[in-house]
Amino acid sequence: MTQIEQRFQPNFLLHGADYNYEQWLDYPDILEEDFRLMREANCNVMSVGIFSWAMLEPAEGQYDFEWLDQLMDTLHENGIQAILATPSGAKPAWMSHAYPEIRRVDAQGRREPHFQRHNHCPTSPVYRQKVRQINTHLAKRYRAHPAVLMWHVSNEYNGGGCHCDLCYAAFRAWLRNRYGTLDALNHAWWTTFWSHRYTDWSQIEPVDGSIQGLMLDWQRFTSDQMLDFFLAEIEPLRAHTPDVPLTTNFMRPDVGLDYWRFAQHIDVVSWDSYPRWHSQPEEWPVAVETAFYHDLHRSYKNQPFLLMESTPSHTNWQGISRPKKPGMHLLSSMQAVAHGADGVQYFQWRQSRGGTEKFHGAVIGHVASRNARVFQDVKSVGAHLAQLSPATSVSQAEVALLYDFQNEWALTLAQLPRNEEKQYQERCIAHYRPFWQMAVPIDLIACSTSNLMPYKLIIAPMLYLLRQDIAARLDTFVRRGGTVVLTYLSGLVDESDLCFIGASPLRPMLGLWVEQTDVLFDHNTQTLELEADNDLGMSGSYPITHFADIVHTDTAIPVARYGHDYYAGQAAVTINRYGAGQCFYVAGRADTRFLHDFYTALSNNLQLARAVSAPLPLGVTAQQRRHGDQTALYLMNFQPSSQTVELDGGIYEDALTGERLRHSVDLEPLGVRIVWQRLQ
Ligand code: GLA
Ligand code: ZN
Repeated sequence: MTQIEQRFQPNFLLHGADYNYEQWLDYPDILEEDFRLMREANCNVMSVGIFSWAMLEPAEGQYDFEWLDQLMDTLHENGIQAILATPSGAKPAWMSHAYPEIRRVDAQGRREPHFQRHNHCPTSPVYRQKVRQINTHLAKRYRAHPAVLMWHVSNEYNGGGCHCDLCYAAFRAWLRNRYGTLDALNHAWWTTFWSHRYTDWSQIEPVDGSIQGLMLDWQRFTSDQMLDFFLAEIEPLRAHTPDVPLTTNFMRPDVGLDYWRFAQHIDVVSWDSYPRWHSQPEEWPVAVETAFYHDLHRSYKNQPFLLMESTPSHTNWQGISRPKKPGMHLLSSMQAVAHGADGVQYFQWRQSRGGTEKFHGAVIGHVASRNARVFQDVKSVGAHLAQLSPATSVSQAEVALLYDFQNEWALTLAQLPRNEEKQYQERCIAHYRPFWQMAVPIDLIACSTSNLMPYKLIIAPMLYLLRQDIAARLDTFVRRGGTVVLTYLSGLVDESDLCFIGASPLRPMLGLWVEQTDVLFDHNTQTLELEADNDLGMSGSYPITHFADIVHTDTAIPVARYGHDYYAGQAAVTINRYGAGQCFYVAGRADTRFLHDFYTALSNNLQLARAVSAPLPLGVTAQQRRHGDQTALYLMNFQPSSQTVELDGGIYEDALTGERLRHSVDLEPLGVRIVWQRLQ
């Protein structure tokens, strides 16, 4: 942990929201009421200035910080800290018109009009200069302000890519740096295919999905270029406020950025979570997915993170978004804390009066009332967070799941015998789900940078693109006694998306080779049939869908065999003892029932620690977290009916009511209870 990371050890959990004070300057009564209600809701932080550039710099070089001074002072007077934003997420209209180069160009070469937000060119020297100027002013002006807690750098960067001349020149320079010569590039992209050979760097245009090496590198470049922009953006912040930690709000991992790389340059990870609660007949699958993303954000730095945005009720940009039902807000907020969040914040404090988000949920609605259920729900979260301070520990998981952005990009680009429903993210979540159900804590890892030693089990679903360092590290992990689970569609291409010739680097570890991948239509039938007396003590038959690798074993032993078609009887699940460890291969896409039974057996074999030993009812889970010198058990019920959790031995105490508990705890429908574990 660096010094500045250590500095972010607040002895309270954060509770607050995006606060757009500047929209209400003409409404003094409303502003006054805001601060009263913030105190009442136990809010101790507000994110401010996120989209304020046009207010801060109404004309080029003319600044107006008065309103922000006033806001910062008022926050401080009310005991509220500021997560102060840099405004680069939305550019002022005057700037877009004076300097068209700051607007992005699409793949057809059309420059965008001035509209929307989050759409600046990441390369434009003019935009970088303008951002440097405003950030320098902000940093100098507020560096000693007592309200400043942290920087909120920009807003929701994305890797959407800009096709302007400046970006193309930067891309070509990036390629020169990566490949050195055009010959090397032509080889890496296999451009002899379809006569795609480049004879000059200037011919390279990232608009051709048939050259997957090109498009994969373009995605890498756009991610790197946004990171480069971010590094330029934070220079004045680091220079003038070296002690102020900084964050930038991440999103779910499908915005084209390699967040593992970003995370290395920020002090605190934060993210914006908008699960689609109440969108399915059952709530808990949404909870599993959400837990996965929380764990991912905790894992980026293996540190507590912040839930920077969540809605206290509904959104207005999803097809259908129902207001949170009673209980859901507290439950979903505590879920984030259970998985490592040191704070819960909302978009937005007050619903704006106009504009596209005027019907988005907020703590205070247009009909502002402290009697509204949303406000009471928010208050209740505030009360819980106050009881739970401080919390800075992270889980010591024994299981890790490899989540690799570059693999996801390459797999998405690949033209396979089956292109429908490759579903990298969904499959990672499917492999994660049994651990959620068993209350076994799990980390996500990048593999090439993560320390693998604490883990007993590493799972890497669909590791299509296999970088050499990852292959080597997994191999060493198994030889030293670890257990690895790999699946179909793994180890097919190298880092340049070139297929491995002959043996995949995974062959020794897997003890098998893959001859072909069968792909299945929905009406096709395939199964895996468990071998008698297999190591996992499993039996019976499970369906296989979508993908089925046809394998030949070297040293691997079949645990299950295919039940149908011309490869019936060939291995479908294998175990290979390798060095001091073992590697499993699940050769076909198995259903959630199989994954559940498989990982339950494996967890028992490996004696993986669980937060609660007794089996949990379906839709109920548990997480453990240290708070100072106490351990809290978070028990969460995502079912619409009451549930009971059997506790391990010992004495427990409800964190909010102080009630003493033994043997079992009852959970209300959509209920959460946080209990301190007391030693007997
Ligand atoms: C994002 C943005 C916010 C707001 C919310 C609405 O997360 O960062 O400014 O638009 O979405 O859900
Ligand atoms: Zn550009």
